[in-house]
Order: sequence, then structure tokens, then C-alpha cells
Amino acid sequence: MTIERTFWHSFRNLGAPGRAEWGGGLNLLIGPNGAGKTNFLESLNVLCGWGPFSGGVLPLVARGSDGRALLSCECGPTRVEVRIGARITPRLDGRVVSHSELRFAIPSLSFLPGDINLLEGSPGVRRYFLDRVCSLCSPLYARRLAEYRRLVKARGALLRSAVPDDRALRACSVPLAGLGRWIREARSRASAMLEEKLSERLSASLSDLSPAPLALSPVWAGGADIEAWFASSANLERERHARSVLVGPHRDDLLVAVAGVQRSAAEVFSRGHKRRAVVAMILAAGRLVEGRLRKSPVLLLDDVTAELDTEGRELTGRALTETGWQVFAAGTEEGLFGRSATSAVLWRVREGRIDSR
Ligand SMILES: Nc1ncnc2c1ncn2[C@@H]1O[C@H](COP(=O)(O)OP(=O)(O)O)[C@@H](O)[C@H]1O
Ligand SMILES: [Mg+2]
Repeated sequence: MTIERTFWHSFRNLGAPGRAEWGGGLNLLIGPNGAGKTNFLESLNVLCGWGPFSGGVLPLVARGSDGRALLSCECGPTRVEVRIGARITPRLDGRVVSHSELRFAIPSLSFLPGDINLLEGSPGVRRYFLDRVCSLCSPLYARRLAEYRRLVKARGALLRSAVPDDRALRACSVPLAGLGRWIREARSRASAMLEEKLSERLSASLSDLSPAPLALSPVWAGGADIEAWFASSANLERERHARSVLVGPHRDDLLVAVAGVQRSAAEVFSRGHKRRAVVAMILAAGRLVEGRLRKSPVLLLDDVTAELDTEGRELTGRALTETGWQVFAAGTEEGLFGRSATSAVLWRVREGRIDSR
């Protein structure tokens, strides 16, 4: 997919109405800190159905404006418009749609500075990564995950009540465990496919990015048999004591190990090598999505080359160019990808304005 044109108005510090026609390959957004680069990537994230970047400070509407923001983009015949006021209302070709419908209209994957923690951060970072990939590949996954989260929340509330209702707790165990098993199976398939993509010699630069082949395997809290775990009275007692849902996909992890060596990549790799491995994982995720949806994903990359040496920058630039995908990459220096991104279109971001160079 190619986002050909975008329009924005009153979105964060992109206050003045602006529009741009984008290159179909690498677009480099260069500007000093505070210029609005991350805000712009966030506007694309909203247009692609993923909403505001998590951890971002609300509100999305520009301070001092009339309380409404507008974003729109065109991808071939597809037109997306998102109005932001008291709520976010997305429209696809004039029709009000759900965020998940937008995700399939323009599949996108983002890489934010926090994603460096994919290898060494908390399990939540890896779960979020897998969930994004699975949700992009299947709308059913997104629905079942939302339903599962509702059940976990409801069970958590029951466990925290002054006198936990045993019957209600037992009644919600069965659907919770069933959904949990389904989500685990989907994540397990996705991690096997990601591992396969990582090992295919799709392009020389992608294979060279990760310093060593990676092996991905799910780690299941409480063991593989989630239904047996929830059926046990001793485990119900444990939950009551902890006053929280102890086991299930909301507590699981993904082990990213160096293939052939039973040690996690976080332990073995240097910081720079971890970054390269994470870029390789994002590109493998893109390949997986591309294969499933038969549409190329749009990549949103914020500060992707921080902590990379010249070789890492050039490999990243080459691997990105070789995908043929549309990429929006933000950074503070023009040499984001060394000399490898000669075909990239350069954009200057300054005080909430974006100009081509
Ligand atoms: N709702 C808003 N209205 C106006 N400015 C905002 C709003 N939200 C964030 N900002 C400002 O946008 C500026 C640019 O942020 P950011 O996109 O993160 O910069 P960069 O990524 O280029 O370093 C910040 O100074 C922040 O205060
Ligand atoms: Mg930024």
C-alpha cells in the first residue's frame, strides 16, 4: 500500500492546515527534537486504525484550537478521514467504520523508541508486538483478544470484591480458559511463522541484520494446559489470595533466543545488535503481514537507527529499500541510513510544519 497524500489540521503541534504528497518508498522526516516528527508518525498511526501511540500525552487536538482536529489520506482509490473531537471518528470512503476496518484498509506497522525493549523489556512489550501482528493478520484475533481482556477485567473485579462470588468465578473460568487457549494457539502459530520469515534468505540485508539466527518460542504462564489450570480448586484459591487473574495470554511471554544456543538474545547481544535484531523482527512481521493480506505494509519508524553504528544504519537502510514498501522514518540527522538510502525522499520538519527538500 502507498499513502499518496495526507492532510492534517489541528493535530498536536501540527496546528496549521498542511498537506503532503509522499514518495512510494523511503520518506525521511528530519528535524530537531520537538519539531513534530513523532506527532506526524502518530497521525499516520491514527489514520491506519491503531490510534494514538500508547504512552503519548493526550489530548491529540492542538492546544489553543477549537477542540477539533482533522486527518485524512488517500491510498489509490481509498480515502480515509479521521475526525477527532470528544471522540475519534474514522471514515473509509465516506462511511463511518471501526478502527479495525481501517487496519485492513492500510496495514501498517510502527517501530517506536520503546520497541528497542522488544528483546530486553518486560513481557508486555513482546505480547503487544505479537498481538499487533496477529490482529493485522486476522480480524477474528482482534475481536477475541478484546473479549478475552473484558473477561480478565471482569474476573479481576470479582476477585477483588469483599466476598468473592465462587459461583460467578467458576462460571467465568470456562469461557476465559477457552479463549485463552485459542489466543495462545494463534500466537504460537504467528511466532513460528515469524521465525520462519526470519530464517528465509529474503534479502541479503535482512538476513545480515540480525547478528545471529533467532528462535522464537512462546512461554506460557502456569503451563501449557490453561483449561486444567482453571479447573483446579487450588489455583482458584491462589487467585483469590493474589486478587488477580494469574494465568493466561495476558501473562504469557515470547522467548527470543539465539538459535542453537539456549540463551535469550537479550543476554547475548550488545545494545546495537539488539536494535538490529529488533529491526529484523519488524521486517519479518511486515513480510508475514504482506503474505497474509496480499498488501504491502506501510512502516512507521521513529528513531529506528539510534544506537546503530554505520554498518547497522546502512544495513537497515538497504533492507528497508529492498522491501519495496512505503516507509516513513523520523530522525534528527539526514544520515539516518548512512549512504544506503540514496533513493529516499527527504522532508524537513520544523515547528509543526513539514516541507519537502
Ligand atoms: N495537543 C498538542 N498541542 C500542541 N502541541 C503539542 C500537543 N501535543 C504535543 N505537543 C507538542 O509537540 C511537540 C513536538 O513533539 P514530537 O512530535 O514528539 O517532536 P519530535 O518527535 O520531532 O521530537 C512537543 O513540544 C509537544 O509539547
Ligand atoms: Mg520524536
